[in-house]
Amino acid sequence: MLSSGITLANMTSEQPALLLIHGFPMDGRAWKEQVEALQAQTTVLAPDLRGFGSDTRPVPEAMTMEAYAQHLKELLDERGIRSVVLCGLSMGGYVAMAFLAAWPERVRGLVLANTRATADDADGRRGREETALNAFDKGMAVMARAQLPKLLTPHTCATRPEAAAAIEKIIAGQRPEAVAAASRGMALRPDRMDLLRTTEVPTLIITGSQDVLMPLPSSQAMADIIPGKHLVVIPDAGHLSNVDQPEAFNAALSDFLESIR
Ligand code: MLT
Repeated sequence: MLSSGITLANMTSEQPALLLIHGFPMDGRAWKEQVEALQAQTTVLAPDLRGFGSDTRPVPEAMTMEAYAQHLKELLDERGIRSVVLCGLSMGGYVAMAFLAAWPERVRGLVLANTRATADDADGRRGREETALNAFDKGMAVMARAQLPKLLTPHTCATRPEAAAAIEKIIAGQRPEAVAAASRGMALRPDRMDLLRTTEVPTLIITGSQDVLMPLPSSQAMADIIPGKHLVVIPDAGHLSNVDQPEAFNAALSDFLESIR
């Protein structure tokens, strides 16, 4: 077991380990349904990124996506895991792309869920600073309540209130300094379209048909430049497509893992 997050090992698997990288501002618990479903297929790691969840280590004012990726690489090294399939959702996708840019030889497959490869524009960067300040001034409980309708579909909130409450609780429990550092770090991330254009790593893009934070064109733009154009649009799913439609998300992930065995 890791010092933070969730790891379930299937040491008999012939497949590379699956490293699930959570979005903002959450932690590894957001992958509960994926860890449970995929552990029979391969070794699954769903760590908390530095500062989030059970990782209570101090964070600098801005945590770059490269810094998160560096910590994940150290985690893999500690566990003797050489090659992985990276699956990052939203901010987790930014971290996955930073990892791929630095250590392509360690990446057997890449899954980019509900994310984008472009950098923030000036307005976006201003918004990041506002979010960072709000984490301290308004507090995480208020932010969690405000975020929820943008993360999950109204259908999920109405029919699976326990799933919505679990996500709200995860967000409300994060430390403001970790949230601020991540927000400022996202503002610093570079454009990764060239990386995706040139990568030889098998890549799958997943998104939700109702994602209001990363609308379909963000995913389409990535899929258009990747050889093979593997794009899965999950119906009736929002930004957290893995929570809104876990079965469809898990099926796409499982098929992808199987395809690169
Ligand atoms: C996330 O879910 O990680 C965020 O929406 C990413 C972002 O704000 O760019």
